[in-house]
Amino acid sequence: FCMCLGLCMSERYVLDDKVGLGRVFDGIGGLSGGGATSRLLVNYAEPYRSQILDYLFKPQFGASLHILKVEIGGDAQTTDGTEPSHMHYENDENYFRGYEWWLMKEAKKRNPNITLVGLPWAFPGWIGRGNNWPYDFPDITASYVVSWVIGAKKYHDLDINYVGIWNERKYDINYIKVLRNTLDRVGLTGVGIIAADGDWYISKDMDVDPHLKDAVAVIGAHYPGTTTIDEALKTQKTLWSSEDYSTFNNLVGGGCWARILNQNYVNGLMTATISWNLVASYYEELPFGRDGLMTAEEPWSGNYVVESPIWITAHTTQFSQPGWTYLKTVGHLALGGSYVALTDKQGNLTVVIETMTHDHSVCIRPPLPAFKVAPQNASFQLTGSFASIGELHLWQSKFNFKTEKPVFFKKLSPIKITDGSFTLSLDVDEVYTLTTITTGQKGTYPDPPLSAPFPKVYKDDFNIAVPSFSEAPDFADQTGVFEYYVNLTDPGPHVYTMRQVVTQMPITWATDADQTISVIGDFKWQNLTVMCDVFMETETTGGVFIAARVDRGGQAVRGAKGIFFWVFADGTYKVTNDLVGRTVLAEGQSGTRAHRWYTVSMTVQGQFATGMLNGYQLWKNAVVLGSENGWAAIGTNAFELAQFDNFAVDVK
Ligand code: GAL
Ligand code: CA
Repeated sequence: FCMCLGLCMSERYVLDDKVGLGRVFDGIGGLSGGGATSRLLVNYAEPYRSQILDYLFKPQFGASLHILKVEIGGDAQTTDGTEPSHMHYENDENYFRGYEWWLMKEAKKRNPNITLVGLPWAFPGWIGRGNNWPYDFPDITASYVVSWVIGAKKYHDLDINYVGIWNERKYDINYIKVLRNTLDRVGLTGVGIIAADGDWYISKDMDVDPHLKDAVAVIGAHYPGTTTIDEALKTQKTLWSSEDYSTFNNLVGGGCWARILNQNYVNGLMTATISWNLVASYYEELPFGRDGLMTAEEPWSGNYVVESPIWITAHTTQFSQPGWTYLKTVGHLALGGSYVALTDKQGNLTVVIETMTHDHSVCIRPPLPAFKVAPQNASFQLTGSFASIGELHLWQSKFNFKTEKPVFFKKLSPIKITDGSFTLSLDVDEVYTLTTITTGQKGTYPDPPLSAPFPKVYKDDFNIAVPSFSEAPDFADQTGVFEYYVNLTDPGPHVYTMRQVVTQMPITWATDADQTISVIGDFKWQNLTVMCDVFMETETTGGVFIAARVDRGGQAVRGAKGIFFWVFADGTYKVTNDLVGRTVLAEGQSGTRAHRWYTVSMTVQGQFATGMLNGYQLWKNAVVLGSENGWAAIGTNAFELAQFDNFAVDVK
């Protein structure tokens, strides 16, 4: 250990393959879903949408990700919205819903070797036959998941590499075996099962159940705090941090990511780390706003922001690939920080060093124990097959928290190596890559358009014969699923509409509302007119609403407040201050029925709201309680079919 008395000696670290190699590297990834985290991305105009995808997936350009994990949509709220299932109903199959198929294809286009992973958070209600539980009928659940894998291949030519069980919920050992067996029976023996996407404790069950152990390819834990448990190591199985990060993507977020990318291997022998989420493409006021590798939350302006985690990812991804192997000689630096080294076993070597300090690398969870990092000199000795390497290319990131002028992913002059050794002078909060790989690029595009608020005047008539996505732009479903719909028997102007299609409470992951709701617009909106044509499809008990100043979504959606104007199929209307409909501001007769179109509109101004039905005032000057601002919204009274057309907002 060195003492610094003016002149500092440096600690020596050996990088060697003679002592045997470590584990095989599986890559670094991003997670779209869990849920609806890419919702706004799909509506970006070109060229911006492709630019964002390039920053994420294009090799030798940006994050150059090795793994894309997606949610297998289950029609339920899974953090920032719902994602549609490929089987809303038992006899229904459709592999063109949502945007995960599209995203997987865009990722593959850029990187044909990208590893694809699918995982359910929630399931459509029919899977449970009335119970909020996916394991009572394991054959049904397994065939539902395997159908998704088959559909990926059949309709999109996508080979799924791994599927999971049930995100951060109980696993069922019998179900895991049934799933393995179902995959095998249709020839999908190469599709690995990741389990259990929660903590490490499934490894204890694997220890006493060799069939379970055989069925599971990868033990995946979430937010492991860079450590694992002995039982997991004892299984000899591949270990992944199959969900991690979820930290606001400022500089500290980048620091969190830098530290865990190295230390998930150094401390926990995890060979893959997957970021929740891939790209923050959801309204920022929804839960966990901006917890993505980069931000793309303004399709209406085209603005997006390439944040520090993108360049931190590049330090590893651009210079090592899945199939490379970690050296055994990895570890902590004497004065704090860590180093990993990887080789392709053909003589190439990549070393990644990070010196992130505690306060500049805190992640959202788990709590980070105290540690110290200080500036230090570090000498590396290359031996074994690396002894003859004459120079290493050098890439640097400096967070510069003091000046707030960080430098990311900068190529410096190569390091000359004499007698197999070199010394680096390391400051705190830095990341370095030293590599024999000669490629590597800090990709760039011209600045995107400036950030701008959601347009104050907005209209959608849903008149689109062949939409590229099943959902209309900018609507963010928080309970239920709202899809484009073609109504060929409509005698009037409502052939192309939007329809809420979930008719039963799903097997939930969060607490969905008992009503369905899709929000849109600017969370800061206060005074506005919202208008929509509505069509109930349920006699007597049906109901639909338009709303303003909706104050929350995500897992908190049940408690949403705002101003909700409802019409019901029993001929009544209501104005409420909440989605559950408990605080009634006005009510009365409307004469509304199912299977007819009505135009409803509501104007909110200061403390007062007024509602119209088919152009006539139905109620006025309802006094709004405590709702200051929020999104506009539409929705239904229960899990029921209903249609919407000619949605419009006009903000004062
Ligand atoms: C995870 C979950 C994600 C998201 C994230 C937010 O536990 O799997 O879907 O909710 O937390 O931090
Ligand atoms: Ca229409």
